[in-house]
Amino acid sequence: MFKNIIISCALVLPLSNFSVLAQEDTRQMVELPDMMRTHMLGNMRNHLVTLDKILEYLAADNLEKAADIAEANLGFSSLELHGASHIAKYMPEAMSAAGTAMHKAASQFARIAQEGEALPAYAKLKDVTAACVACHAGYKVQ
Ligand code: HEC
Repeated sequence: MFKNIIISCALVLPLSNFSVLAQEDTRQMVELPDMMRTHMLGNMRNHLVTLDKILEYLAADNLEKAADIAEANLGFSSLELHGASHIAKYMPEAMSAAGTAMHKAASQFARIAQEGEALPAYAKLKDVTAACVACHAGYKVQ
């Protein structure tokens, strides 16, 4: 019986992975001037570094630091850093809404984390990553 389960998993897993990979790319292409695209992708890599640091601080129960880094790098305080006002005019409305949702969730996360409760902070961090996922599902720049 176990053998059957193992065999059926071995058959099903590669197939289901394949169907994910084979999905059509339906993302909308957003044309950006070269320098702006380079700048934006650099920001994106920084977003991922920030997320990694936030999780590191949360795991160490250092909610104060998690709040600081989230606000400075992803929250509303980061708009200037990311040149948001220059890039926003190239973005479709729903894309810039996803960006705003991310900044808003990150600033809310920072406020909640400062209150010192880890669980509600994680719940709000999930809203940050949901905005990453939503925008990535809809748009591409290259
Ligand atoms: C407003 C839309 C938007 C939001 C919000 C967003 N991204 Fe992106 N991100 C993009 C687009 C568009 C690309 C380029 C995808 C492509 O062209 O294939 C990208 C690319 C990336 C890349 C690849 C960078 C490279 O060098 O190729 C990383 C890493 C990334 N994003 C991380 C994140 C993380 C983490 C978050 C959330 C904290 C996030 N992004 C939020 C739109 C967004």
